[in-house]
Amino acid sequence: MTVMELFDLAGQVAIVTGGARGLGRQAALALAEAGADVAICDLLVAEGEQTQRELEALGRRSLFARVDVTQSAEIETFVQEVVERMGKIDILVNNAGMPSSGLALEDESHDSWRRMIDTNLSGMFYVAQPVAKHMIGRKEGGVIINVASINSFIISNILPRHNVPYCVAKGGVAQLTRGMASDWAPYNIRVNAIAPGYMATTMTAASRHYPEIVERLTANTPMKRYGKEEEIKGTIVYLASCASSFMTGSIVVLDGGTTIW
Ligand SMILES: NC(=O)c1ccc[n+]([C@@H]2O[C@H](COP(=O)([O-])OP(=O)(O)OC[C@H]3O[C@@H](n4cnc5c(N)ncnc54)[C@H](O)[C@@H]3O)[C@@H](O)[C@H]2O)c1
Repeated sequence: MTVMELFDLAGQVAIVTGGARGLGRQAALALAEAGADVAICDLLVAEGEQTQRELEALGRRSLFARVDVTQSAEIETFVQEVVERMGKIDILVNNAGMPSSGLALEDESHDSWRRMIDTNLSGMFYVAQPVAKHMIGRKEGGVIINVASINSFIISNILPRHNVPYCVAKGGVAQLTRGMASDWAPYNIRVNAIAPGYMATTMTAASRHYPEIVERLTANTPMKRYGKEEEIKGTIVYLASCASSFMTGSIVVLDGGTTIW
């Protein structure tokens, strides 16, 4: 195999959660451009259907379903539908996620805490479990990519907020990644994570309206800018493909250098 052939995903089938917009949409487009058929799920129906059309315009099979990653029954139905309509699942990108309430810990409600942990941490387990069962049953291996964050390692300093519930959930994603990698390596399922820094998506749009926050974050980042959405594409294809065939349990940081300082 030549090095470019290592990145080829022709004939593969992928699922991307939270694939309607932002980093998930870019991940889905990257996998499709590399040759994969891509199923996406999200809470946002209009955006999801639009991304599905973009994937089909690339000449790939695609489907979109409205799925909440905290709801096991919806996930089971979606995974079954993907297998029935697309034949199999080779790749899962666990990307769906939400921002913190922004409240200090002493003011955080328990409902809000539970929703954060359920969506940003447990949701990745809820989706990966039926997908891994399918992969184990098929005996052809597979790849899982969890979207973690630099907040898997450091507490956010977008003062006055530290977004602790988000950081705790993403810290859990790092350990979940290592745990899945350990349990599923015998089945040739590789599990890695991407830890983006500050990316210019809808999730960070509100905070980007405050010049003092933009100034603080870019000052803390050696490359002095936010990442662009599409800058996740290369790492997604690398981790999804044979190019990373000896890699599992790793967390690839993609942050313009923020965590250096
Ligand atoms: N933008 C950043 O700076 C940044 C940095 C590090 C990590 N991340 C992570 O990247 C991932 C994508 O974030 P983004 O920046 O593209 O944000 P985004 O808000 O644009 O996209 C997140 C997507 O997830 C979907 N989603 C949320 N909850 C869901 C649920 N319960 N079920 C199904 N779908 C759900 C949303 O509808 C949305 O389409 C998230 O996990 C986020 O935590 C983002």
